[in-house]
Amino acid sequence: MRNHIVAGNWKMNLNAAESQKLIEDLKSKKLSSDVRVAIATPAVYLATAANQTANSKIDVAAQNMHQADSGAFTGEISASMLKSIGVHTTLLGHSERRAYFHETDELLAAKVNTALKNGMEIIFCFGEELDERKSESHFDVVTTQLRNALFHLDASQWSQIILAYEPVWAIGTGETASPEQAQEMHAHIRAVLAAQYDDALAQSISILYGGSVKPANAQEIFSQPDVDGGLIGGASLKADDFAAIVNAF
Ligand code: 13P
Repeated sequence: MRNHIVAGNWKMNLNAAESQKLIEDLKSKKLSSDVRVAIATPAVYLATAANQTANSKIDVAAQNMHQADSGAFTGEISASMLKSIGVHTTLLGHSERRAYFHETDELLAAKVNTALKNGMEIIFCFGEELDERKSESHFDVVTTQLRNALFHLDASQWSQIILAYEPVWAIGTGETASPEQAQEMHAHIRAVLAAQYDDALAQSISILYGGSVKPANAQEIFSQPDVDGGLIGGASLKADDFAAIVNAF
């Protein structure tokens, strides 16, 4: 169902004590009741984070998971392991996973299938690189990313999918897509979903924007009609900033 969602992606930051403190600080903040809030912590903190947030409005998400159900995959984490510690949501397809860990659309389609088979919710990340935007192929790139990883799904499976458009050139760079650029792409994504499925499905999907969202720009970005929330990197590491972004709706 289409919701306002603000999710923090902590990436590979904070030690255990800092993680626990950030969560306690977040729990002490007044967070808008109209906004769903999630934090994707490093995997080693997920179990503690799930316990810490059990009676709060904060959901905990993984940053990644493996496509196999179990087996000889040293260092990897499965969907059933995540579920067994109370984590029911995972990011998939973050541009850093694509760039540094060679995650392809094909691999991501397999991860999507495994996550859904295990009843997980997915925050599926995608977005174009700077050269693709400069060459004006960004709409095609995004369409292809969605098609390759998600368009094999039945309409009913989309109830477990949240989309997160993250233009790579805006991640961690301080450069944000303008509200108009975000809206233009989100409207494109919804149109592509409507063409592939139908308008009802397109209108039911939450589409988040990610890339240098801060308290100072969140309200303007979130006010765009097709932007349903944000996936926040750097600013999710400070309780004050993250709470201000949540409350920017
Ligand atoms: P920044 O907010 O640090 O640009 O990161 C965005 C991001 O990659 C969230 O997944």
